[in-house]
Amino acid sequence: MEIEKNTIMFEEQDIKELIRALRDCGGYDFSNYSLKSFMRRVEKVLYDNKMDIYALTNAIKIDRAFLDQVVKDVTVNTTEFFRDPSAWQAMKYRLMPKLHSQKNINIWHAGCSVGMEVYSMEIMLYEAGLLDQSTIYATDINADVLEAAKIGRYSHRNAQEYINNYNKGLCINPYNYEERINIPIQKYMDFNEREDFIQVKPFLLNKTTFKKHNLVSDPNPFTGVKYDIILCRNVLIYFNQALQNQLFGEFWDMLVDGGTLVLGIHESILGPWAAKYDKKGLLYTKKTS
Ligand SMILES: C[S@@+](CC[C@H](N)C(=O)[O-])C[C@H]1O[C@@H](n2cnc3c(N)ncnc32)[C@H](O)[C@@H]1O
Repeated sequence: MEIEKNTIMFEEQDIKELIRALRDCGGYDFSNYSLKSFMRRVEKVLYDNKMDIYALTNAIKIDRAFLDQVVKDVTVNTTEFFRDPSAWQAMKYRLMPKLHSQKNINIWHAGCSVGMEVYSMEIMLYEAGLLDQSTIYATDINADVLEAAKIGRYSHRNAQEYINNYNKGLCINPYNYEERINIPIQKYMDFNEREDFIQVKPFLLNKTTFKKHNLVSDPNPFTGVKYDIILCRNVLIYFNQALQNQLFGEFWDMLVDGGTLVLGIHESILGPWAAKYDKKGLLYTKKTS
């Protein structure tokens, strides 16, 4: 029988059973993901696999490879180069100047997806003359996106959007519109519309350490490292408040004193950890007193 997308029905109880199976059989704990967005993703998985929720739950109990695929499918990987350009302007003008006096800079992209955020950071650091002293770490729960990130090759489809983001995020000075940087993005990546690819230039590849990591259950993926900047953008939005609070605490511990957590445009620190960070837009600087 054909399952039509908008007729997929299941109860909250059924979703909880699926979440239990993902945890017991795969070690993935989605119990603190926002239920609404998780249910939307599960609907899509059911539709794509032409299954109902009972068949899906049973299948993941007996087929580990299928379980891993479902985990990849329920997590959202949408990303862009220089996504939300105002965040890049803030990092360029508020964070980069602070780092100039440092010999070593540690940066962690938590939930990096296919790496566009990572290469955007590398480009910003390169332009600021800070790439050589930076150690960049990037993690994600999904091993497939990490493999794509290492290669740095993407579809050309949204090229114009990325170019606009770059121009706005890195080339315009929001504090002085007269001052413009005229470095074309083509210095950093090749664009080929006919063959439908964008390829990050070789000098930016192999600069970042990519590693599979689950923010919900795993400790600091790079044991002992303290970070000057942690970017966790457009990830926490999928988590409930309790899990977000847990991570705001863990990030606080992993930041150096005065280090900065960068969140996505729809995310903010509310609740008990708000007092432990100094907020300026999307930048949250660790307070120690
Ligand atoms: C929407 S993307 C955001 C990518 C990038 N940070 C950005 O803002 O463009 C969210 C990423 O978080 C990852 N993710 C979701 N749950 C995770 C978890 N528990 N641990 C680590 N990464 C997770 C997803 O696999 C996905 O690649």
